[in-house]
Amino acid sequence: MARNSYAFAMLAMAIAALLAALPAQAFNSRSLLQRNDMLFPPNCNCLRNASASPFRLELIQPPATAVQGFFKYCFNLANVGGCSPTQRCCNSTQGVYKIELDINATCKGYLRRVTVDGRNHTAFEFNTNSGVVRITSLNLTSEKVNTTQVCLYIRASNESCSRLEGFCTIGDTACRYAIFQTDRTCCPVGIAALLPSPPFFPSFDQPPPPVIEFVAPPPAPPVPFFPNCSCERDVKGSQYTLKPVAEVGPVGDRNLTQICFTINTKNVCEDSTSSCCTFTLSKLELDANPECATALAYMSVDGVIKPRFFQYNPYPAIKVTNINKTFAEADGTKVCLFMKPECNSLEALGSNKDGTITAAVFNHPSEKINCCPVFTVK
Ligand SMILES: *[C@@H]1O[C@H](CO)[C@@H](O)[C@H](O)[C@H]1NC(C)=O
Ligand SMILES: *[C@@H]1O[C@H](CO)[C@@H](O)[C@H](O)[C@H]1NC(C)=O
Ligand SMILES: *[C@@H]1O[C@H](CO)[C@@H](O)[C@H](O)[C@H]1NC(C)=O
Ligand SMILES: *[C@@H]1O[C@H](CO)[C@@H](O)[C@H](O)[C@H]1NC(C)=O
Ligand SMILES: *[C@@H]1O[C@H](CO)[C@@H](O)[C@H](O)[C@H]1NC(C)=O
Ligand SMILES: *[C@@H]1O[C@H](CO)[C@@H](O)[C@H](O)[C@H]1NC(C)=O
Ligand SMILES: *[C@@H]1O[C@H](CO)[C@@H](O)[C@H](O)[C@H]1NC(C)=O
Ligand SMILES: *[C@@H]1O[C@H](CO)[C@@H](O)[C@H](O)[C@H]1NC(C)=O
Ligand SMILES: *[C@@H]1O[C@H](CO)[C@@H](O)[C@H](O)[C@H]1NC(C)=O
Ligand SMILES: *[C@@H]1O[C@H](CO)[C@@H](O)[C@H](O)[C@H]1NC(C)=O
Repeated sequence: MARNSYAFAMLAMAIAALLAALPAQAFNSRSLLQRNDMLFPPNCNCLRNASASPFRLELIQPPATAVQGFFKYCFNLANVGGCSPTQRCCNSTQGVYKIELDINATCKGYLRRVTVDGRNHTAFEFNTNSGVVRITSLNLTSEKVNTTQVCLYIRASNESCSRLEGFCTIGDTACRYAIFQTDRTCCPVGIAALLPSPPFFPSFDQPPPPVIEFVAPPPAPPVPFFPNCSCERDVKGSQYTLKPVAEVGPVGDRNLTQICFTINTKNVCEDSTSSCCTFTLSKLELDANPECATALAYMSVDGVIKPRFFQYNPYPAIKVTNINKTFAEADGTKVCLFMKPECNSLEALGSNKDGTITAAVFNHPSEKINCCPVFTVK
C-alpha cells in the first residue's frame, strides 16, 4: 500500500514535470486533462515552469503584522528577469492578470480582505472546491509588476488557519503560488517562503519581532561531528556517492550564485554487510555556517524549486527534504542552493571554513534503518 502510494506520488511528480515542460497545445487529450486537475494551479492548461517567466511572488519579512483583529501577510510581485525573451512566457510586453494561492480549503472564512498597494481589492475569491484563493483583475503592466504589493488580511485567532503555515497547504511559513500573465497560458508556479523561524506567533500586545531577532542565529555550540545524530555514516557501507566537486556559478539577474551538488550511485557496496548499501533517498543535509542562513534564497531538486530550509537546532544545517527517490531512481539527482552574495562560495558557506562542505544523504524515515553516509565536497 505504502509502496503503491509512493509509486503514485512518483508518477504524479513525473506527470507534473512532463506537463510543465510541454507547450499548452499539448494538453488537449482528455486523460491528460484529468491528470492535470491534480496539479496546482487546478484546471489550467498553462506553462507552469517558472524559469520560462520573469515573474515571482515574494513573501515580505516579517511574515505577519497584527492589525485590528487581522494578521496581515504581504507579498511583493517581482519581475526578476532571468528567462529568455524568445520564450512566449518571457515576452516583455506581458504583465500580470491574476495570482492564485494553494490554500487549505478548511480555512474558508479566514480571508477577510485583500489589498493591492494598500487599496482594497474586491476581486478575490476563496474557492473551497479547488482549494485556491484567486486574486483577479490585477491587470498590471510589466513595468508595474515590480512595484506591486498584495496583502492578505486573515482573521486573527489561535487556530492554524490564521497562520500562513496552516492557511497555505505547503506548510512552513510559505505559500505555493501561480501567477497568471496577460497571456493566461503562462502560469509560473513557485513558492513564496521565509526562512523557517522559531515558532512565530504575532500577538496584539507586542509588535512583531524585528527581522533581526529571528535571523540572528543562537550562539553555535561546538558540534563534534556532522550530522549530530545516530546514523550509519561510513561511506563504505553505502552505494551512494556525492560528486566531490560542487558546481558553482552565477544565475539569474539578482546577483545569486547557484551551488549545485550531484548525488550518484555506484554498483558495488564495499561493505556488503552494511544495511545502508541501498536505500530510498529522502534528504540531503549540508553542514552550513549559520551566519549564511539569510543568504540562502531558495533551493532546487532537479530544477524544481523548494522553499529554503535552514535549521538551527539541534545543529545548524541546510536540509533538502522530501526528495523521495528509490535507489534505482536516485543516480544523478541534482540539488542546488541559490545563494546571495554574502555567502556565495563554499569557503563562506561551509562550517569547515576551508573551501569544503560536509554533506550527508539520508534514507526515508519509513525505512527501518538510519543511514547518513557523510561526504566532503569542495
Ligand atoms: C523549466 O525550464 C528550464 C529552462 O527553460 C529547464 O531547464 C527545466 O528543465 C524546466 N523544468 C521542468 C520541470 O520542465
Ligand atoms: C525588479 O526588481 C528587482 C530587484 O527586486 C531587480 O533585480 C529587477 O531588475 C527589477 N526589474 C525591473 C524590470 O525593473
Ligand atoms: C509578445 O506579445 C505581443 C502581444 O502580447 C505580441 O504581439 C508579440 O508578437 C509577442 N512577441 C513574441 C516574441 O512572442
Ligand atoms: C487545514 O486546516 C485544518 C484546520 O482548519 C488543519 O486541521 C489541517 O491539518 C490543515 N490541512 C493541511 C493540509 O494543512
Ligand atoms: C476597505 O475594506 C475594509 C474592510 O473590508 C473597510 O473597513 C474599509 O473601510 C475599506 N476601505 C476603503 C477605503 O474603502
Ligand atoms: C482586467 O482585465 C480583464 C480582461 O483581461 C477585464 O475583464 C477586467 O475588467 C480588467 N479589470 C480592471 C480592474 O480593469
Ligand atoms: C484557542 O483559545 C481558546 C480559548 O481562548 C481555547 O479554548 C482553544 O483550545 C484554543 N485553540 C487552540 C487550537 O489552541
Ligand atoms: C550533539 O550535540 C550536543 C550538543 O549540541 C552534544 O551534547 C552531543 O554530544 C552531540 N552528539 C554527538 C553524537 O556528537
Ligand atoms: C548586484 O551587484 C552589483 C555590484 O555588486 C550591485 O551594483 C547591484 O546593485 C546588485 N544588484 C542587486 C539586484 O542586488
Ligand atoms: C515524500 O514523502 C513524505 C513522507 O512520506 C511525504 O510527506 C512527502 O510529501 C513526499 N514528497 C514528495 C515530493 O513526494
